[in-house]
Amino acid sequence: MLATIAAIREVALARVAAATSSEELEAIRVQYLGKKGELTGVLRGMGKLPPEERPRVGQMANQVREELERALQEAKEDLSRREQAERLRAEAIDVTLPGRPVSRGYRHPLYQTLNEIKAIFMGLGFDVAEGPEVESDYYNFEALNLPKEHPARDMQDSFYITEDVLLRTHTSPVQARVMEARRPQVPIRIIAPGKVYRRDDDATHSPMFFQVEGLLVDKRVTFGELKGTLMAFIKQMFGDQVRVRFRPSYFPFTEPSAEVDMSCVMCGGSGCRVCGHSGWLEILGCGMVHPRVLSMSGYDPEEVSGFAFGLGVDRVAMLKYGVDDLRLFYENDLRFLRQF
Ligand code: DAH
Repeated sequence: MLATIAAIREVALARVAAATSSEELEAIRVQYLGKKGELTGVLRGMGKLPPEERPRVGQMANQVREELERALQEAKEDLSRREQAERLRAEAIDVTLPGRPVSRGYRHPLYQTLNEIKAIFMGLGFDVAEGPEVESDYYNFEALNLPKEHPARDMQDSFYITEDVLLRTHTSPVQARVMEARRPQVPIRIIAPGKVYRRDDDATHSPMFFQVEGLLVDKRVTFGELKGTLMAFIKQMFGDQVRVRFRPSYFPFTEPSAEVDMSCVMCGGSGCRVCGHSGWLEILGCGMVHPRVLSMSGYDPEEVSGFAFGLGVDRVAMLKYGVDDLRLFYENDLRFLRQF
């Protein structure tokens, strides 16, 4: 009997030592110490022994049972420590690795340019005003001193929706709308940025493009203030070194009118392909608000005067970034757009 117990002990301990998982340990426990286990069987069979042998066999069986339980417990703890260490190693995160970059959108170069223009004029005290892109013939033309059949309407090939409704060809109608809404208060000091539409489509003209209109109405506004304002703008936008010139021109809504050129950003004024070898680039139109425009929108031209200007955002962006084909801005080719 004692030899049987010793043999069980030997085999069981060896199996515990060799076990590699908690399931295996549990199986060993059941096999030896479970209700129908081998050691349990020995203890149960003790009744058949002669009484004088029972204490020794009982003592030994109990010792082996305790030893086996201890061995199982230690093996289980050891295993679970190893399993945990293994899991920690497998799930380890290297917090020193660089993060995965989040891909972020950003503004289209035309809107970047527009925002820069807005910021400069807001710094000069102008507020932002807006008007509809689908405009009436009245605000787009008539209120700007361009009656029906006026030949200057030919300067702006238009998309008509009905006889009296069209896609606005410029942001100038916002002038008339703002004056009408604010009359007779002065000063008015606004810029009106937005989309405009014309039947044009080539390397320097897009059927939809962006303009920024400017309007200042107050008592005794002079051409000198117009010049100062626009020069401040151009220098902030393109740098102090650019030269600016005003050329007499014609717009029905201003008198006198001028077109403004700046020295070529590509060649600095010596003449190149971009400026057609003239050294100058046209950047905007402007003038003193025509008395008829003032009075049509409810201001007395004897009391107040004003200046206005209209500038093409696309043109400013082309000059600022050295882009020679306007259509690139509208094709949405990411290889182009990512450069800004
Ligand atoms: N509306 C003109 C155009 O689109 C630009 C312009 C010229 C606007 C002179 C003005 C201005 O306000 O005074 O061609």
